[in-house]
This record gives sequence, structure tokens and C-alpha cells, in this order.
Amino acid sequence: MYRVAEAKVIDGKAIAAEVRGRVAGVAARLHNEINVTAGLATVLVGSDRASQVYVQAKGRACAAAGLGSFERRLPADISEAVLLAEIDKLNADDSVDGVLVQLPLPGHIDTHRIIAAIDPEKDVDGFHPVNVGRLWCGLPGLVPCTPQGCLMLLRTVHPDLSGAEAVVLGRSNLVGKPMAALLLAANCTVTVVHSRSRDVAAICRRSDILVAAVGQPHMVTTDWVKPGATVIDVGIKPLALPDGSSRVVGDVDFALARTVAGAITPVPGGVGPMTIACLLRNTLVAACRRRGLPDPVL
Ligand code: GUN
Repeated sequence: MYRVAEAKVIDGKAIAAEVRGRVAGVAARLHNEINVTAGLATVLVGSDRASQVYVQAKGRACAAAGLGSFERRLPADISEAVLLAEIDKLNADDSVDGVLVQLPLPGHIDTHRIIAAIDPEKDVDGFHPVNVGRLWCGLPGLVPCTPQGCLMLLRTVHPDLSGAEAVVLGRSNLVGKPMAALLLAANCTVTVVHSRSRDVAAICRRSDILVAAVGQPHMVTTDWVKPGATVIDVGIKPLALPDGSSRVVGDVDFALARTVAGAITPVPGGVGPMTIACLLRNTLVAACRRRGLPDPVL
């Protein structure tokens, strides 16, 4: 098929800024009307540079939206028992509405055990098994931020996703699986592709929606994209350039895929900003629900 037009580029930065603006408005109302400052606690174990950058960005975003933030920095050799005790303290702290333990955790710590220790009503990552179960059952809960952000971006192009063929590349607990649940709840026909899948290119080529979340730079190229499809790229990997600098690239070869797709997210400036916006959103939702208030319109 011959195409002259390039894909619409979905501006995640602008859409995230709108969400953050709405969060700031609701946060201000909570503060002015009932003297509540919604608060997010982040827990960072060890000194992984990328995790430090992410946690700092989350703190700054809270401050900019008028939310409180508390950062617990703990040593890499902390015992699981001491980390569990820290989480218990945050669960019991009334000024904390959201608890986020930055992943990955050091190898000697059982990540599942730590996530399960977070109060499900404060689990703003939506990773606790109770919230995972709620998502698959269609019950109200806290929804993981990155897939929630992807769905918001998709909705700007497809207000009605009913009947669309969707493929999710990757089956992680953080993105692939909850993304599949959200697309299913939106009435898509969903295929989850993973490292053991066969005929991956053919599955992708028949899909109206393609969400790539595998962490493999530039894995998706033109012949994986159905003409006119919407492509959402969750990947972010630093790629070293010959001149010694580096740039961040996604799972999709943007320059090639945009010549075939109908709409596509860039990297950076696509899904990334939505993750933090949805984290603020979840913190505010948790703050309202804990006080018996209706969910804010965000
Ligand atoms: N590490 C990478 N992404 C995430 C995320 O969304 N939440 C947490 N807690 N850790 C992460």
C-alpha cells in the first residue's frame, strides 16, 4: 500500500500536562475545603542511578501539583524485615495516601512479599494482588500508572475501542498484563505476545492497536505495523551514539513505523510523561477514597 501522509504523533507531554493541571485543581480544592494535602511516599532501596532519577521526578511532580511527598531512602543491604517494618509505618501514617516502592529491588529481597505488604488502598502503583484481582474482575481499584497512561493516549485517537484487534508486546506484571486487562475491559480483542510466541510479525500486522512494552530497542519496524494502526511505545532505553553521547529510544523504530501507522507515540515525550501524571492521579484518588469522598473527575 502506498501512503503519502505520515502518522499523527500523539503528544504525551501535552496530554500529561492537562492531567497534571486537573490534579492540581482537585488537590487545591481538597486543601482549601477540607484542609487535606494528599501525600505520596516513595521508598528507594539502594543507589541505582535510574531509580534515583525516577524517584526525584515523582517528588518534583508532586510538589508542582500541590501534593505532599515523602521520600524514604534505604541502604541496598537493608533486610527484608526492616523494609517490611518501614512499609508498615507508611501504611499506618495518616498523612500518607500513596505508598510506592521503587522497583527493581535488590536481589536478596522478595519483591512479591514487599508489594503484598503495602495497604491495597494506598497501593498507587496498582501492583498489589488485591488491585490486580480488582482490575481483572472489573472492580474499582488502583490501576497501574503506565498502562493507565497508555489507555488515555489511545482514547485520544479511539474514543471507542470496542471490537478493535489489539496486540500487547510483553507480559510483565508492571505493563504487559495490566495493559491487556485494560484493553479487554475496553472490549478489544487482545493478544499478548511474548518471548515464546510464534508468528509475531503476522499477529502485529493484523492489529489495529499495537502496544510495545518489551524493552528491545527498535524491535517494531514497518512490516510489523498494519497500515493506519495506532502504535503506543512504552520502551525507554538509552542508546549510545558513536560520538559518545546517548539518546533514549523505544521499542518501535519511530522513523520507519510512522510511515505506516495512523497514529504513534514518540520516545521521549509519549508514554513516559503519562506514567507520572497517572501516579499523581492515583494518589488523589486514594486520598479521596480513604476519606469516603467520591472519585475526583481527572
Ligand atoms: N520501576 C520501573 N517502573 C516502575 C513503576 O511504574 N513503579 C515502580 N514502583 N517501580 C518502577
